[in-house]
Amino acid sequence: MKTTVGFFFGGNSVEHEVSIISCVQAMQNTNKEKYNIIPIYIAKNKKMYYSEHFFNIENFKNISELLKKAVPVFLTIENNSVVIKAQKDSVFKKFKPIALDVAFPVVHGTNCEDGSLQGYFELLGIPYVGCDVLASALGMDKYMFKLALKEKNVPVLNCITFTSNEYTENSEKIIENIEKNIGYPLIIKPQNLGSSVGISKVENIDELKEAILLAQNFALNILAEKAVENLREINCSVVGYYDEFEASECEEPIMQDKILSYEDKYLSGGKNSKDAKTEGSKGMSSLSRKLPADITAEQKALIQKYAVESFKAIGGHGVARIDFLMNDKTKEIFVNEINTIPGSLAFYLWEASGIPYSELITKLIKLAFKRQRNKENLSFSINTNILNGNFGGLKK
Ligand SMILES: Nc1ncnc2c1ncn2[C@@H]1O[C@H](COP(=O)(O)OP(=O)(O)O)[C@@H](O)[C@H]1O
Ligand SMILES: [Mg+2]
Repeated sequence: MKTTVGFFFGGNSVEHEVSIISCVQAMQNTNKEKYNIIPIYIAKNKKMYYSEHFFNIENFKNISELLKKAVPVFLTIENNSVVIKAQKDSVFKKFKPIALDVAFPVVHGTNCEDGSLQGYFELLGIPYVGCDVLASALGMDKYMFKLALKEKNVPVLNCITFTSNEYTENSEKIIENIEKNIGYPLIIKPQNLGSSVGISKVENIDELKEAILLAQNFALNILAEKAVENLREINCSVVGYYDEFEASECEEPIMQDKILSYEDKYLSGGKNSKDAKTEGSKGMSSLSRKLPADITAEQKALIQKYAVESFKAIGGHGVARIDFLMNDKTKEIFVNEINTIPGSLAFYLWEASGIPYSELITKLIKLAFKRQRNKENLSFSINTNILNGNFGGLKK
């Protein structure tokens, strides 16, 4: 019997569109002999939809038209299974509920990749691919992630974190602190976004103020950290669970400007991308890159080791991409960030390591069931007669 996989994508995030591309690619590369593929799109208004039309990226060019043909659905439990059902007020009265065996979130960014969607799956009790709530949340928050790595002696850049409100009330003090303890050139970034949105490299106080104003539009918490000079960026993916992790080949993304921008990542139409029958942008797989990265065997081994340690430090599961910043003169290496649902699921790094995309997807789904089996061996209830007792004694 085939396993039914619900692919969740979209979401209320600045990376909504990137997620559509990542998910359509993933569905196209899922083994159809083993799996029934059920696409569930989370629109920007947070409603969920199901449609056979979601398999074709072209249809997303006009989302409002597309959604007229899609069934608005919700998740519930029937006969001990998690099902998607048509919303009561929808015109799709004949839509039969579909039972899902496993959820596969291919979402990026806040309100979905950060543990929100994972928490929903936990609540429903459905096995799901990838990081759990805590690992997702730690991976999304650039400051908390650094704390987790520091604890394990994985090198990260020192930073200063402040809230948007603190800045509005006390901007002079915060600027003084940043200039004194970090110094130019430095980077200002929202603490929990992705895709380079709201990030600036600054060389002086005027640019610093402007950069903070920009970041304030996107996040309540803002991070300032030293800019790595003579910058080269190296990324490495990790797949695994618990204490069995494997690191991929390393890539070196090519940037056009001071920082790797949204345009570099998704609109540059790189040469090494795999055609996933998606015309136009191919998401992270369209980035111009050197793959394998032009680094020494020692550098590669160190990056792979830090990549595994980083994923392990947050309690990771599934596939992640860990991004490094390297000073090409001093050869210092820092972990910059982790993507717990990486763009294009980092399939291109695994292909370069000899693992085809469909195999990667199969592995991720198997890992989801493995975690579920392990969880089922844990106890989630205790025998108690507390409800028969005297509630007057209840203190808390
Ligand atoms: N400390 C830094 N020094 C130099 N460049 C940086 C630094 N932090 C970020 N960048 C540049 O900005 C880009 C985006 O920053 P990153 O922290 O990766 O955020 P995002 O989650 O949006 O990808 C990086 O790929 C890199 O080009
Ligand atoms: Mg990044």
